[in-house]
Amino acid sequence: MEKLSFVGKSLPRKDALIKATGRAQYAADRDFAGMLHAAAVRSPRPRIKILSISDKAARRVPGYVTLVTYKDIKGVNKWPVVMQDYPFLPQGEARFAGETVALVVADSARAAKKAAALVEIKYKELPSVADPLKALEKGSVKIYGKDNIVSSFVIKKGAVDKAFEKAAFTVEGEFSTNYQVHAYLETQGAVAVPEADGGMTVHSSTQCPFYVLDAVAAALALPYHKVKILQTVTGGGFGGKEDVPALVASHAALCAAKTGRPVKLIYGRKEDFQSMSKRHPGWARVAYAADKNGRITACRVKYVLDGGAYSTLSPIVLWRGTVHAAGPYKIANVDIQTYAAATNKVPCGAFRGFGQPQICFAQESLIDELAEKVGVDPVQFRLNNLLAPGDKTITGQKLNSSCGLKEVVQAVKRRSGWDKKVLSPKRQGDVVTGIGFSATYYGVGLGAKGRYLDRAGAFVNVYKDSSVTVNVGNTEMGQGALTVLAQITAETLNAPYDSVRVEEVDSSKVPDSGPTVASRTTLMSGNAIIEAATPIRERVFKTAYDMLIAEGADASKPMLAAGGLFSMGGKVVDFKKVAAGCWDRRQKMSEQGWYAAPRTTFKMEDGQGDAYVIYSYSADAAEVEVDLRTGVAKVKKIWAAYDVGKIVNPRLAMGQAQGGILQGMSWAMFENLVYKNGIMVNPNFTDYVIATTADKPEYDIIFIEKPYAEGPYKAKGMGEVPLIGVAPAVANAIKNACGARVRSVPLLPEKIWNEIKKG
Ligand code: MTE
Ligand code: MOS
Repeated sequence: MEKLSFVGKSLPRKDALIKATGRAQYAADRDFAGMLHAAAVRSPRPRIKILSISDKAARRVPGYVTLVTYKDIKGVNKWPVVMQDYPFLPQGEARFAGETVALVVADSARAAKKAAALVEIKYKELPSVADPLKALEKGSVKIYGKDNIVSSFVIKKGAVDKAFEKAAFTVEGEFSTNYQVHAYLETQGAVAVPEADGGMTVHSSTQCPFYVLDAVAAALALPYHKVKILQTVTGGGFGGKEDVPALVASHAALCAAKTGRPVKLIYGRKEDFQSMSKRHPGWARVAYAADKNGRITACRVKYVLDGGAYSTLSPIVLWRGTVHAAGPYKIANVDIQTYAAATNKVPCGAFRGFGQPQICFAQESLIDELAEKVGVDPVQFRLNNLLAPGDKTITGQKLNSSCGLKEVVQAVKRRSGWDKKVLSPKRQGDVVTGIGFSATYYGVGLGAKGRYLDRAGAFVNVYKDSSVTVNVGNTEMGQGALTVLAQITAETLNAPYDSVRVEEVDSSKVPDSGPTVASRTTLMSGNAIIEAATPIRERVFKTAYDMLIAEGADASKPMLAAGGLFSMGGKVVDFKKVAAGCWDRRQKMSEQGWYAAPRTTFKMEDGQGDAYVIYSYSADAAEVEVDLRTGVAKVKKIWAAYDVGKIVNPRLAMGQAQGGILQGMSWAMFENLVYKNGIMVNPNFTDYVIATTADKPEYDIIFIEKPYAEGPYKAKGMGEVPLIGVAPAVANAIKNACGARVRSVPLLPEKIWNEIKKG
């Protein structure tokens, strides 16, 4: 392995101080002279025909300025996401309760909210659909296209029916999972500031400034060079600030364009719950077949996601779920059919794991049932069937050497004391303890479905004083991108870590780098930085050499560069001096970089080909306690191992692992968003329960670093990986503890108790 100075070290977070001291400027903290405030008027019912919108009563509120409706949209009234079916503001029909119908602008946030509540929408209620499975039935009310199917994919390989006929063992099961709310601490928000030349600058809390750019330019019918998006410090995203901030920012921009003044739009928690994206509820029927030796021979999956009222990111989320639907196993015969169905509920989108956790819960639960039928220990059963380097995935993609799947499974098996624990679940009075396992893989980046977006730019600029700024197109949202990218810059330039500053995204300073999703930042922005910094590095190293020679260094010795210092034959110069030397020699000290992911070969018709450029891998074991009297389960400990390539910052990686596990456990155990007749009934943190640090299990986490040749310093991607396998490991542990097989997430006490009663 290469000797590295900055990569692989637990260097302090770049944003630690501003966040810990409360000085970070979130969207709500941005104030401008003459600024007004906007508030949304929302649809009260699941599906309505809008007859009229009146601000007659709202006008009486002191400070009221104006009402903004679809009539104020200069551009095309279609928010440009994947498919263009979501209007910026609805014209005839609003399709879910909570959808923004109009905006009120006033001179204070309070006045805007008060006035918004007084805007009168006259409407006729239309027939609506709440259940995604019913939406797919022939006789259903049609709310989307001919068949309510927003998106659909297949993976077909081999002869599945035949394999099931010939199988020695088969299992089949239906599974479902509920919504997950991102629960970022900072709600959605944006401030739009009109510029003197008719342009618009938008300060936005977002993962994807370039989606915001697309949307604001479209809504205002402005050329891109007149729109500037500045990412504000973003208080959590988890996928929830991928697409929808573009809608919020466009609304703020429409208000600013109409009034000619800066307009701030900050969401309250309730409206954020009701209208912003969520993890899709999922439903799946999965079946596996195995031969008499316990080799998996076939897998059949039907997987349905509840897309909500508009398509937003459903196609991309569904596709990721489709590709990973059979689990990380060698299987010759597969038939996978997946659908995103439209319903008159909140549109669902990206959430850490992106369509994988739902189907992983189903398939990893069922793998345990198959192992039981075959009569093999569930971990051994997995080991017998796991993908290894050189094997082909269900899409026919040959895995390369960066595949540590077997190692992560073995590490968790060993560290958890699996063999002993699984055979003898503990019992103390009415409390039983069991252990459960799961294994997963994760295609890093957007893959074939989002291939046009899988690129990133970077600008690296070394000032005269040797300090360095880096502009990238991917964002910090808590995961540590600013830190990791600064480490990569420092390593490439041999510049001190403290001298490198990575800026929050400014859309005018860096080319469209796609969204900050799919755990792609380290890989893509990291590679773009390396491309930008490499020619500067060459100049720096050459100049350092010349300076050392000039100082009388012994040229017969090699020059060493490490930790920001250059040394040769007893002489040393630091980066600061060398950078000044480069400037004295009028060398170019700024460069652009660009990285585009290698081509994928996937065909949508049969789902065959290379789906992603590289995969990360994980294994989890969960120890869970169940109270037999109440069905209450508690996760005591999680053992996890990950192969995410080279770890750039071990402490941050550990933070991502712990946070991802807790978020996965929260979804598995507690989170239960409830709709009744198309209306969300618990849109708040009192009635919608998430895990807190008090629920935190004990962690045992390790990394197995299988180098990825194309990655920056051999890294892959890790942000989402730790969440994916938690729910099935917990469900399998509950089964091991008390025999209850619960096939629906969240694993609520009443569901567990019911299964215990059934015996
Ligand atoms: N960690 C924190 N603290 N906050 C976040 O919003 N988002 C997750 C993950 N970890 C998130 C996080 C999601 S959904 C993704 S896709 C990745 O971080 C994105 O980061 P990366 O591209 O730098 O891996
Ligand atoms: Mo993450 S769900 O890909 O933003």
